[in-house]
Order: sequence, then C-alpha cells, then structure tokens
Amino acid sequence: MVHVASRGDVPVRLGPGVKNVPDYGPSKMSRNPYTDPVQFELERERVLTKSWILAARSEQLKNPGDWHSFEGHGETVVMTRQPDGSVAAFHNVCQHRGTSFVTEWSGCGARRFTCPYHGWVYDTTGKLVGLPERQDFSEEHLRDVRAPAVAADEWGGFVWINMAGPGNCISLQEWIGTEITADLGQFKMEDMVLHQVLEWDVPVSYKAIVDGFNEIYHTIELHHVTPEFVKSARDTSFHILDRELVTEAGPRPTNYMCFVPRPDQREQLAENWDHHKHAICHYVVFPNTVFNCNPEHIQVFNPIPIDVDRTKFLTWQLIYPGDRNDPAYETYYQRMLKHWEGLKVVVGEDIGIYEQLKRTKRSSAYTEHILNERECKIAHYHEQMAKLIQD
Ligand code: FES
Ligand SMILES: [Fe+2]
Repeated sequence: MVHVASRGDVPVRLGPGVKNVPDYGPSKMSRNPYTDPVQFELERERVLTKSWILAARSEQLKNPGDWHSFEGHGETVVMTRQPDGSVAAFHNVCQHRGTSFVTEWSGCGARRFTCPYHGWVYDTTGKLVGLPERQDFSEEHLRDVRAPAVAADEWGGFVWINMAGPGNCISLQEWIGTEITADLGQFKMEDMVLHQVLEWDVPVSYKAIVDGFNEIYHTIELHHVTPEFVKSARDTSFHILDRELVTEAGPRPTNYMCFVPRPDQREQLAENWDHHKHAICHYVVFPNTVFNCNPEHIQVFNPIPIDVDRTKFLTWQLIYPGDRNDPAYETYYQRMLKHWEGLKVVVGEDIGIYEQLKRTKRSSAYTEHILNERECKIAHYHEQMAKLIQD
C-alpha cells in the first residue's frame, strides 16, 4: 500500500503547549516589493542568484546524459545527470558569442552539446572541449573556458540549483534546515512520482504568490471554506524558523511552516498530535518554494520570477506510485484524484485574485499593506528580503 506519513520523532507542532502565533504582532509594509523594478534588480543580483531554487524533478533526469532546463529571473540553466549519479548544472550560455548552446529544453543520453551557431562543443558539465578552426583563436583566450557552473543537489526527489556556483553557497540541506528536512521528510517525497504539472503566466510579482501561501486568512472569503474549516483554521499553528541570516558561506534565510488541523480529524489529532496524519502540513522554503502536504498527495507551489511583475507559476502535483490494477491502490488513486480536482478549483480562485492585483499595480492609491498578527509570516518574509538586498 502507499506510504502513510506519520510524525515519528518530529516535535509536536499543534495542540496545548504549542504557541500558535509567533510574537510578531500586526504590522504594515510598503507596496514597493511587488512593483519596484529597482528592488527586483537587487533581488536578482543578491537573492535569486544566491538562493537554492527548485528546478526539476529528479525523475526527469533518470540516466547519465539526461538533461533538463530551468529558466527564471533572466537566467537559463541546464542540469545533467552524470555517470556517477550526481547532477551537474551550468549556465546555458555559449562563451563564444552568447547563444544558448543546449537548444532542446530536455532530452536523454547526451555526451556532448554543440552550439548551433559556430559549433563550439561542451561536455555535459558545461566545459568547453572543442571548437572548429581553433588555430584562429588565441590559446590564452580559450584556457579553462566553460559555461559557468551552477551548484546542483537533490533533496525530496527534486533537483535544486544555486547560481552562486559550487563552493560559493551553504549546502542545500542547510538552506532547507533541519526542522523542515525532518518534518517534510516524513512524507518521503523522493518515493513519490509526478502526477501533473500545471503552469500559469501570472501578471504579478512572485512574492504576491508566495504571500498567498503564507497566510490562511483569505480562505474564508475567497475559497468559501466550510464553517468547520474556519474553526480548524483558527487553531492553525504558524512557525517562523528564525536563524542567523548571513553566514560566511552566504545567505541562510529563515523558512516557515504551518499546520492546519483537518476539520474531520480533530478528535484523532487530539489523541496523538500526529500532524502528518491529521493536519494539512505546509512548508515555505525561501524564496519561492511552497510545499502543501495533504496526507495522501502533495502540491508544490513554485512561482518562478520572470520580471518584477510577471511570474511563471508552476504547481507540481505528487502522488505515491502503485499498480492501478491493484484495487487497494486504485481506491487510493480515485480518492486522491477527487481531492486534487477540488484543489485545482481552489488554485483557480487564487489565480483570479492575481488578475485583480494586476489592475492596481500602477494605482496611486495602492501604497501599503496592513497585516494582521496571523499574517506574520508575510511580514517576516519581506523583512528578510529587505535585509538581503540592503547595502
Ligand atoms: S555563439 Fe556558440 S559557437 Fe559561436
Ligand atoms: Fe488560496
């Protein structure tokens, strides 16, 4: 049967003795982070190119020579599976005159990549290994030329990349942090498979999308949740996993969690406080990866910044694999499918709000946000973004 996550040794996150809302209090913030192109440039330079970014499912790079691409905030990167099983990544930029030399978005079994313009040849780690009419170049100019390396690692069945490059950033495990690797790790995402990826081109900042997953306040009005859900939502626990923001090896931002008791499971939850079984578990890895764990399937919300007010918004739906000829698995599959169909409607409602936010982007009347104490994760997120881009 499919894996059923349970709390195991992970600390209790809900119930008596757990503080539901951090001591942050209500706050206000400027609207600039969503619309200021100068801030976006600083974020590109100081945050997005120095952060661990979710970029592919490991299963998309099964065998040596398989490759997959990532594009976001102006960067274009290729990830390749190496013969030793590791993943290498590099900027997909020919060092001759700037063309993207891996022309296909993804593929299998590559041994070399040849730039389509003048034929420079790169190996699967991005190192230049040959070029036509070499005698016409200066050997000095060609020494150690490579498409700049990007750090790559895997966790949770995903390939993550960091454009700071190998050796220039903290490890992926440290970036995600021990609390989330242990808590979210209980779901064994590495054993799950991709069921579907949805993609939207959204006319707002990626941070506006992250915000929507850092609070639960909007669910009453926008998602018309049941009175039972509203009651459960009041018992949600919000966690800011505060830590030192900057280390010698680079930024190490704070991540977030929250746990919403499932309305139909409150009695069972009170028996053992097993949030994996009886709550919706929610994790935000700064700056743009959101995991929404329903016990039987997981949605990864992944707003990829394109520009200051434009985002490629991906939703990855993960399920546990099995044989659909097995009646027990088929029952699981149908139950999961029904829930997923409902969730797609909910995500559609969120997308509708982005259209309304688009209308106010340049309005003189839009100046600041007024946040309640249960929107503290939003406030904290923007506070640390501001610290990371300051001089
Ligand atoms: S731009 Fe790639 S070979 Fe000339
Ligand atoms: Fe929502």
